[in-house]
Parts: sequence; structure tokens; C-alpha cells
Amino acid sequence: MSSLVNRRVHVAVCGGVAAYKAVETVRLLQKAGAVVQVAMTANAQAFVGPLTFQAITHLPVLTRTLDPSDEMEIGHIAFAQENDVLLVVPASANILAKCAAGIGDEVVSTVLLATRPRRSPVLFAPAMNTAMYENEATQNNLRILRERGYQIVEPDAGALACGAVGPGRLALSEAIVDAVVAALTPRVLVGRRVLVTAGPTREFFDPVRFLSNPSTGKAGFEIAAAAARAGAEVTLIHGPCSLPLPPGVSSVAVTTAIEMHAAVMAHLPGVDVVVMTAAVSDYRARAVSATKVKKLDEVQSLELVRNPDILAELGASRVGASPLLIGFAAESGPPLEYARAKLISKRCDLIVANDITAEGAGFGVDTNRVSLVTAEGIVELPVLSKAAIGERLVVFMAERLAGSPSP
Ligand SMILES: Cc1cc2nc3c(=O)[nH]c(=O)nc-3n(C[C@H](O)[C@H](O)[C@H](O)COP(=O)(O)O)c2cc1C
Repeated sequence: MSSLVNRRVHVAVCGGVAAYKAVETVRLLQKAGAVVQVAMTANAQAFVGPLTFQAITHLPVLTRTLDPSDEMEIGHIAFAQENDVLLVVPASANILAKCAAGIGDEVVSTVLLATRPRRSPVLFAPAMNTAMYENEATQNNLRILRERGYQIVEPDAGALACGAVGPGRLALSEAIVDAVVAALTPRVLVGRRVLVTAGPTREFFDPVRFLSNPSTGKAGFEIAAAAARAGAEVTLIHGPCSLPLPPGVSSVAVTTAIEMHAAVMAHLPGVDVVVMTAAVSDYRARAVSATKVKKLDEVQSLELVRNPDILAELGASRVGASPLLIGFAAESGPPLEYARAKLISKRCDLIVANDITAEGAGFGVDTNRVSLVTAEGIVELPVLSKAAIGERLVVFMAERLAGSPSP
């Protein structure tokens, strides 16, 4: 999940069983750094009390339009317009209908009437019984709202609280927060193709044993997610990872370095940027035993041979500055000298260097402390979330690609 640091997210809650899930969504928005304020319909308050939202946001909750004290705290026009994004969660069939028809008869519908969705994003995350969702009126209202620039976070299909099975279940809070982040991300990579590698490789030497490393793929998945949010067409080639695929990203799963090499070469044509975050095994076993190696001698030796160096091969085969090439140097110790040498020897545009032994950095954690090493110099970044690093790299890609024609 990405950063929403200091972004003002206004959340409008409607009356439905999923209203309690809006509490989790607000918590996740806050975790991503957002400043959240909540408005509730009168019917929403029958499902969750305003006090819950007030307690977690530390801000007054807008519950009425015609109450002088509510309007003193924050007026409905301010709630509609003084934000970076407005999120309606859960959006009832009723609120979709009222917004499509331009009705403002209570606080949330009146707020919506005062929005300008093409100027500042407004998202609906609908949740309702399948019959209500599939009703022609609701589908028509969703179409009208989309045409007017409102964004819809599509509901999931599954078993609903009312006993029905089908579409209408509120999207997961994580997916709703991703949609908020995407709505706030400048689309600086539209028309660009980005290839990202991530995760470890596995080099088997018998059917049940392999050489590998602790890479989880987190950094690469976050970079792929950030590039997709910025509008790029992203292919993520990854070794064995247990992370959810970021929205809008196509993936290719591989196991060995040889497979990763083949997948990268197959997907290279037409790519504008390659980001090699994968922790590719430098060596593989010369011979792979068809059966499990038995415990025999006290000392066993394993003969290793070099795997292809994908980054070096990409650097050597570049035509001019295309594709833009970003490599990673994860070192156990000060990485800058090595990163500078790697930048030159592998003909990269950028090496993202980090010391995996430093606090807040390395494998399996959500943060990293990296330096950006280019021919122009070194920029040392503070400890950042891997998502924020992904966003920083997107800025680098957009700046470097500016002026070069998209295919
Ligand atoms: C127990 C219960 C659960 C409901 N769940 C939903 C729901 O999930 N989605 C929905 O659109 N309406 C649901 N409704 C109906 C809405 O509460 C009703 O349409 C109401 O007018 C919506 O008000 P609001 O849009 O002002 O919040 C539910 C009603 C009840 C009694």
C-alpha cells in the first residue's frame, strides 16, 4: 500500500451492513498517512455511531446539514470541496440514485451535490444486496456517475450478509485505499511500458532442495504498483513470492534464474523502462539430481556454475539510452563504491543502492534506506516505505523519459 502522507481524505458513510467496514478503511487511510474526516447519513448512524469515527479521526463528524453547530464545525460545502479526495464508503444504492439525480436532502447527498468530480476525485465504493446492485436503476445510476467523472471501486462477488451470493460485497479495504492512492497519483507514465523483476530465484540441485535468498519481492511489487498507478503498462516478472499482485499489473511467475532471463528477454521488445529488483541467484548447480540426494558422507560438495547476468546483458545490448535501465545493489556494508562501479559496468541509468544490514532496510521489511546513484551524482534518501521509494522511482522514470517519444 502506498503513502497518503498529509493528504486530506473526506469519507462519507451510508446506511448499509458494510458501514462497520468503513471503520477499518478509515484506519488504513490513516496508517498510510492521510488526515481523515467523516460525514455520515442519518441511516448510517443506525449501523455505526459517529462517536466511533470521531474517536479514531480526532475530528468532529458531520451528521446534519440543518444543524447550526454542525455547520459551524465544518460546513457541507467545505466538506465537499476542501479535500484531496472524497470517498463514499459504503455507498448505498440510495446515495448512488440521489447523486445521479442531483438530490440533496440530507448531509451526504448535499455534500455530493457540491462536488466537482473532474476537479477533485470523488470515489464511490458500493455495497448492497445482489438484486439491488443488479437492478437496472442502480446500474443506470452507476453509468451516469461514471460519465460525470465519479469513480467507482467495484464491489466484489461472494456471500453477502443478507444470505445472497453474487456481486455487491464491499471491496476489500486495501483495494479501496489503493483506489484512493491511484486517484491521487499523477498519471506521468501513460503510454509507457515498464518491466519490473522481483523476488528471489530458486536453483534446485535435487527435487526437494534449492539455493535461494530471503528476498520477498516487496520492493519490486511496490515499484510495479507505483508505475501502474502512474498509468504505465507494467509487466512484473517474479520469482516465488507470496504477495498479492498489484492492481493493473500483468505478471509472469518464474522459478530459476534461467527462466527469469528467458522471460525478461521475451518481454523486452517495446519496453521503455526495465527495473531489475529481483535477487537473482548468481550460481546454479552444475548437475541437478533426478532423485533426492542421500545423506552419505560427512562432507558433501556441490559444484556451481554461473547464471546469466541479466542486467549486464541488458546494458550491453542497449541501443543508445533505450530502454531506461534501473538496477539495484543490495550490499552487506557501505554500497556506494560498488554501486558506482555497477552503474558504469552494467551501463545503467540508475542504481538503487542499499546496505541490507542497516536499520529499517533490507529483506522482508516494509521500509528501506536507499541511495540513488546516477552519472550525475548520489542522492541519499531517508528511511522510506518501499511504496514511497516506488513513487520516487516513478518520478525518476518520468523525468528521464520526458522528451523521448513513447512507442
Ligand atoms: C439491515 C439493513 C441492511 C441494509 N443494507 C444495505 C446495504 O448493504 N446497501 C444498501 O444500499 N442499502 C442497504 N439497506 C437499505 C438502506 O439502509 C436504505 O436504502 C437507506 O435508505 C439508505 O440510506 P442512506 O443512503 O441515506 O444511508 C439496508 C437496510 C437494512 C435495514
